[in-house]
Amino acid sequence: MIADAKIVVEGRALTQDYHVSGGMFAASKTVQAVKGVDFAVEKGKTLAIVGESGSGKSTLARIIALIDPPSGGVLKVDGQEVNISRKRLTPAMRSKVQMVFQNPYGSLNPRQKVGDVLMEPLLINTAIPAAERRERAEAMLAKVGLAPEHFNRYPHMFSGGQRQRIAIARALMLNPALLVLDEPVSALDLSVQAQVLNLLADLQDEFNLTYVFISHDLSVVRYIADDVLVLSKGVAVEQGSREALFADPQHPYTKQLFAATPVTDVAAIRARVMRKQLARAEA
Ligand SMILES: Nc1ncnc2c1ncn2[C@@H]1O[C@H](COP(=O)(O)OP(=O)(O)OP(=O)(O)O)[C@@H](O)[C@H]1O
Ligand SMILES: [Mg+2]
Repeated sequence: MIADAKIVVEGRALTQDYHVSGGMFAASKTVQAVKGVDFAVEKGKTLAIVGESGSGKSTLARIIALIDPPSGGVLKVDGQEVNISRKRLTPAMRSKVQMVFQNPYGSLNPRQKVGDVLMEPLLINTAIPAAERRERAEAMLAKVGLAPEHFNRYPHMFSGGQRQRIAIARALMLNPALLVLDEPVSALDLSVQAQVLNLLADLQDEFNLTYVFISHDLSVVRYIADDVLVLSKGVAVEQGSREALFADPQHPYTKQLFAATPVTDVAAIRARVMRKQLARAEA
């Protein structure tokens, strides 16, 4: 543990209550989707959030990604408290945190060419001139493993894995400090999952990115995470390093979650983790 490690994002006692109106005859009720969650993520690290369907993962992800304000608690990004319900986000803060969703098709405009998808964040948030916007978008396309000729194609002309690469490229256009990824590989075939996970690991190394990575798949979590937060019914029932959690889960819910999920130990994934650890040790 490095004493002066920089915390990029941190939550204290975060809660989210959804008020659901019951319709004409039923009473309205409150769903407590997130109940007092604490976490902190250091620069360059990945916090994985795991838990069953309905445990509050996406709700927490949307709070961390500055999409929804929490009902309670404090969220800090780069040491600064962010409260989007009280104060509009500055462009600087807006660009610091980006989100990648499970279904890239849903988050990409079908009528927008890939080049425009990538240039748009720069057009909206910066004064960078057109020629440089194009240069940066082309460079990012290459970084995520796509070809120059893809620049003028539409999202429907790509495979699911390629579309997720486009979504990741768009998320990186404003040099964010933090990426919130909500089940980013869950809709992809296994072999494509591994490629996209490798890409995310490479990009993290290259840009020193911090990730909050939502997944229900423990083999994915084992590959990508430094630390793991286990959510159950909106409560963070267990938190710790990946090694500690996988070696010796403490909470009954975590034990049960781990027992119910086959953790596939793919040799390639192990090799990749080793490479990453070596690279970090040398740095
Ligand atoms: N907009 C909403 N309005 C009302 N209730 C909601 C809303 N969004 C989520 N919920 C409820 O909050 C709880 C947490 O939902 P959430 O989507 O965060 O779970 P999740 O862990 O992401 O699940 P999954 O693995 O299925 O994606 C659930 O009970 C859900 O029904
Ligand atoms: Mg979800």
